[in-house]
Amino acid sequence: MITKYQYGNPIETDAVVKDIPLSYGKLPFFNVTNGNTTFSYVLSENDIVYGLGEQVRGINKRGWKYKSYNFDNPNHQEDTNSLYGAHNFLLISGEKMFGVFFDYAGLIEFDIGYTDHKMLIVTADDENMKVYILTGETELDIVKQFREIIGQSYIAPKWAFGYGQSRWGYKTEEDIREVADKHEKYNIPLDSIYLDIDYMERYKDFTVDTQRFKDLKKLQEEMLKRGIHLVPIIDAGVKIEKGYAVYEEGIKYDYFCKDEDGENFVGAVWPGRVHFPDFMKPETRRWFGDQYAVLLDMGIDGFWNDMNEPAIFYTQKRLESVMRRVNELSKQNMGIDEFFEFKGLVEGISNNIEDYNTFFHDINGKKVAHKKVHNLYGYQMTRAAYEAFDRMEKNKRILMFSRSSYIGAHRYGGIWHGDNKSWWSHLLMNMQMLPALNMAGFIFSGADTCGFGSNATEDLVMRWLQLSIFTPLMRNHSAIGTREQELYQFQNVADTKKIIEIRYGLIPYIYSEYMKAVLNNDMMFKPLAFDFRDDILAKATEDQILLGNEVMITPIYKQNAIGRYVYLPEEMMMVRMTSLDQVETKILSKGHHYIQAKLNELVFFIRHGKKIPIAKKAKNTAELHTQKLLFLGWKDASYLYYEDDGISRKYDLEKNTKII
Ligand code: GLC
Repeated sequence: MITKYQYGNPIETDAVVKDIPLSYGKLPFFNVTNGNTTFSYVLSENDIVYGLGEQVRGINKRGWKYKSYNFDNPNHQEDTNSLYGAHNFLLISGEKMFGVFFDYAGLIEFDIGYTDHKMLIVTADDENMKVYILTGETELDIVKQFREIIGQSYIAPKWAFGYGQSRWGYKTEEDIREVADKHEKYNIPLDSIYLDIDYMERYKDFTVDTQRFKDLKKLQEEMLKRGIHLVPIIDAGVKIEKGYAVYEEGIKYDYFCKDEDGENFVGAVWPGRVHFPDFMKPETRRWFGDQYAVLLDMGIDGFWNDMNEPAIFYTQKRLESVMRRVNELSKQNMGIDEFFEFKGLVEGISNNIEDYNTFFHDINGKKVAHKKVHNLYGYQMTRAAYEAFDRMEKNKRILMFSRSSYIGAHRYGGIWHGDNKSWWSHLLMNMQMLPALNMAGFIFSGADTCGFGSNATEDLVMRWLQLSIFTPLMRNHSAIGTREQELYQFQNVADTKKIIEIRYGLIPYIYSEYMKAVLNNDMMFKPLAFDFRDDILAKATEDQILLGNEVMITPIYKQNAIGRYVYLPEEMMMVRMTSLDQVETKILSKGHHYIQAKLNELVFFIRHGKKIPIAKKAKNTAELHTQKLLFLGWKDASYLYYEDDGISRKYDLEKNTKII
C-alpha cells in the first residue's frame, strides 16, 4: 500500500509517474517537527535500513550520516556524505517494515543512527516536498511497489552489455585504433571504446576536433565493422565562444541559467568559461537534445552524460573575489591564519556548494534558485537526451548513462557510479551499491571497473573484473595521468582475457535477468536477506549479494587474499572457473566456508535447485550465439529465459520469455 503526503507547495520532480491521491492524515511512523522539515523515527535495536541508492558505506545504512546533494567527489571515502546521485528512498526492515521516499530535490540529510543509534532523523532545508510511505508483505514487495510508481527503467541495447574500454587521454583516431588492434591481438572480446573529452574541439559539446579525429563518421563505420561501438562523452556546460553555434543559439533563445542579476551565469569547467543550459525548461531540453543529432548522424549510438551535478571548477564571481584577496595576502608576510585563509580560498574554488545558491532556473516562468532543484540537474539533462532519441530513433535503443541522477532519471538512462579510485575499498563499495541502486530504479549501472583515479595493480584489476562481469555496464575506465589500465598493459593478460570471455558466456543470463528486472519492476541484485528473510546471518551479510534468483556473488576485495569466508544461507553449488571451459562445481552445505581462490579463479555460487544458461566464447555481442546454450547448475532445474533482438524497442515479456 502506498500513501502520499504533501508539505507546502513542492516543485514537481516528475520522479513519481503514477497518480496517487493525497492523504491528509498524520504521516505514519514519523514524528514531523521544525516546520515540517524534520522527520524522526525510532529504530528498534535490530532494524536494518536499506536504500539511498548511490551512497557510501554498506548495504545496511545504519550508523552514518548521509546527504543527498549531488556532488563531484572523485576522492570519496568512508567519511564522505554525498556522491553523484540523490536517491532518497529508504526501506526500514525490522520490528516494523516500510519504505519511504522523500521527494525533494534540494539538500536533505539522513542521520541513520549516527547521532543516536536509535534514531533515524531526516532533515530537509525546505518544507516543500512530497513524502511517500509504502507498506507491504516483504522488502521486495515494497521495492516493487515503489518501482511501479516511479515508472519503468531505461533499457540499454544488448551490445552495451559487452566489454567496454575507456580512458581519459585517448587523444587521436590512432589511439582508438590502437585499443581496437590490441584487443584483437590479444583476443580480448570488446564491444565499445569510449571517447572522453579529448575527441571534442577544445572541449566544446557536439564538436569534433578534426585535426585529431579526421573523420569520426568513418571511424565509427570502421569500428562497427570490427564489432566496436564508439561512445562519446557529453558535458553539461556550453563553452562561451563567439561563433560556436551551440553557444550562439543558447544565447539567442535564452536557454541558459541566470545569475542574481539576470545575466547568463558563468561557471568554468573543461572548456574554461561556460554557461549551463537550464534543463528545467522544456524548450532548453528539446534544443539540447536535438544537438545529439550531430553525432547520431555519424552513426554513433551511445553516449555518456558528464559533469552534470553540475560540477563547477570555478565561478567567475568567486574567482574574482579569491584573486582579489590572494593578491592582498601575497603582499603580506603570511602568518598561520593568513596562510590557512589563502589555502582555504584556493581549495574552495572548485565545486563550492555556495555557488549553487548563486544561480537560477526558470520553472514555468518563475525564477527558482538552483539549490532548490540541485539534484534534478543531471536528471533533466539525461531526459533531454533520451527524449531526443525518442524523436530521432523511434525504434532503436541508444546507450545513455549519466554521472548525476535523481529518482526519475532511471527512466531515461543508466548511470555509472562516478569517479572512483583503484582502491580495494571501492571494489567492495561498487558491489554494495548495486542493490540500493536497483531499489531506486537504476538497473543499467556499473562502476569504473578497476578504478578511475589512482594506479591500478594487476591483482586489483583481476579481482575487480571478477565482480564486474556480473554488472550490466562493464567498462574499464581510468583517468589521465594514472597507470594505463587496459588489460593488455598487464602481464596476466592471458588470465584477464579469459575472465572477459566468461563475461560473454554469462551475457545471455545477465541480459535475461536485466530485462526481467526492468520489465517486472524487480531487482536484479538483492541483499541476501531479501530472499532469506528469517536468517539472521543473511541479514548481517554485507559482502555478498544475490543476482536474480539463481546466483550469489562473493567477490574477493582484499589484496593478497588467498580466498575468503563465504556464508551460504542454504545448500548451494560452488562454481570455480578459470576460463569458459575450465569449470569445476561442488555442492556445499549451508553455513560458513573458507573458499580459496587463486587470482585467476572466479568463484560464485548457484542457488539450490537452480541453473543458469551459458554461451560459448564470442569476440563481441554480435557474434554471441544463444541458440545452443549450455547450462550450469542443478540437473533437473529449469530457468525462465528472456531474449529479444537487443536493439529494437519491442519488449514483449510474454513472447520473449520461455522456460528452458
Ligand atoms: C569526469 C568524469 C570522468 C572523465 C573526466 C574527463 O571526471 O567523471 O569519467 O574521464 O571527467 O572527461
